[in-house]
Amino acid sequence: MEVNKDEPSVTTLEEFMGMKLEERSKLPKARVKKLTRLEAELKRKEEKAAQIAARAEEETRQRLEAASLVKIELDKDLPTPNECKIRDLKPMLGKRILIHGWVHHMRWDGKRLLFIELRDGTGFLQSVLTDDLCATVDAITLKRESSVKLYGTLAEDDRAKGTFNGYELKVDYWELIGSSPAEIENILTKESNVDILLNNRHLVIRGTRASSILRARSLITQCFREHFFGEGYVELTPPTLVDTQCEGGSTLFKLDYFGSEGFLTQSSQMYLETGIPAVGDCFCILPSYRAELSSTRRHLAEFHHIEAECPFIDFEGLLDRVENLVVDVCARFMEKGADLLQTLNPDLKPLKRPFKRMDYTEAVEYCREHNIYKDEENKIHFEIGDDIPEAPERKMTDMIGEPILLCRFPAEMKSFYMKKCPEDPRLTESVDLLMPGVGEIVGGSMRIDDEKELLAAYEREEMDPRPYYWFTEQRKYGTCPHGGYGLGLERFCCYLLNVYHIRDVCLYPRYRGRIEP
Ligand code: 4AD
Repeated sequence: MEVNKDEPSVTTLEEFMGMKLEERSKLPKARVKKLTRLEAELKRKEEKAAQIAARAEEETRQRLEAASLVKIELDKDLPTPNECKIRDLKPMLGKRILIHGWVHHMRWDGKRLLFIELRDGTGFLQSVLTDDLCATVDAITLKRESSVKLYGTLAEDDRAKGTFNGYELKVDYWELIGSSPAEIENILTKESNVDILLNNRHLVIRGTRASSILRARSLITQCFREHFFGEGYVELTPPTLVDTQCEGGSTLFKLDYFGSEGFLTQSSQMYLETGIPAVGDCFCILPSYRAELSSTRRHLAEFHHIEAECPFIDFEGLLDRVENLVVDVCARFMEKGADLLQTLNPDLKPLKRPFKRMDYTEAVEYCREHNIYKDEENKIHFEIGDDIPEAPERKMTDMIGEPILLCRFPAEMKSFYMKKCPEDPRLTESVDLLMPGVGEIVGGSMRIDDEKELLAAYEREEMDPRPYYWFTEQRKYGTCPHGGYGLGLERFCCYLLNVYHIRDVCLYPRYRGRIEP
């Protein structure tokens, strides 16, 4: 068949609709007939949709016009309201109150009844708006996360759920403080992936679970401080911008410090050590930084480090202190955070003393006996002197199923400042506390307290001792046996709250690949 070179090759309806009549006449008749029918169908559909949209717009306009005529007023004859927070509502039953907060959830029941679950950061309160109160422009355009001011009487209602079940606020007047746009409903959905959730962390933290975790973390931090102050420790605040390393160069964040090289601290331990001749037992709660290349559910680039240093103790004394701290903070949190734990981790049990104490050499033995391999694929066993990496260490901890104070690691595996065991100088007086489900949460040791031995340690590690003069001189002016430890707050929170991923216990987590928002 001869091909007509003037005939355009029509493939889509869209192209057909863009053609002039003259062009269309060149097409085969059957094709023109079909496309003309499809074109008419499409136009009909578009007209119908436009009519529906216009009707909806008109209805909205009429609703808003009607709503704009509805005015609500604060009744001055009602009793003066008590301004309060949700956490303090218990004794306010039957009283008139004023409360500020955010619309956590809202539900319409017809056009004259609106339920608002109010969140004020201290709790949740079901509130009900009736009649004209929910017929104003502000009411009919209200969206989740708007901030509002509610006046009303606190009443009993069996169906009401909130911080105090059975309490409901019968609103008699309200004001919108800050509106929230309709798109709030589309930002986060059940399908949102981790990146969307983290990019919108500023909104995610308003959620019931995320906000409870932040409150719990605050309470846990408070429990640590109460433990330390109760035991007579002094809180110090070492700098986090430093010119020395504490835990090896591989995870050091370098920075330009006014033209010189500086680092973000890996641990406040060394400064804390210098505090003990000044104030005795001391602690700090500060961020530490690690340029960790591994992205695991336990590693952050910035974490909060709870560190302590204690003079005139021995290794057994150090182990007791670590155990005391962890058992006591868990008990304090179980008491103070009972309501939070009810939803976050109802199965948390008090920790039992004494913790299992195990030497590194016994751990190697345990792994060999229980088929926990150094090389899983080739079934190669650990040997004394091998570092037991995180995964097999966790496997062992989960098999044992209780906290383990893992002690006396070989010197070459550990940091330069750790004291050698008097009974075997190949080993150090060091300890890691391992918790089921989470793994290592504490690392600590007795510190080298002899100046010459410390100088030899710098040399062995090929470290320039000059920037460490203040740390070395601690051994020169009245040295003393001392030890300390560092506990990762986020990892401990994961344990206490049964949270799987460490990023979920951070306000804005920092790890490789994420520095925003
Ligand atoms: O075992 P580490 O590296 O010990 C030290 O830094 C010592 N200078 C502490 C001291 O003796 N004062 O770290 C101690 C703890 C770990 O057990 C872990 O809980 C936490 O700090 N940690 C981390 N947490 C989250 N992300 C990381 N990248 C962490 N690195 C350490």
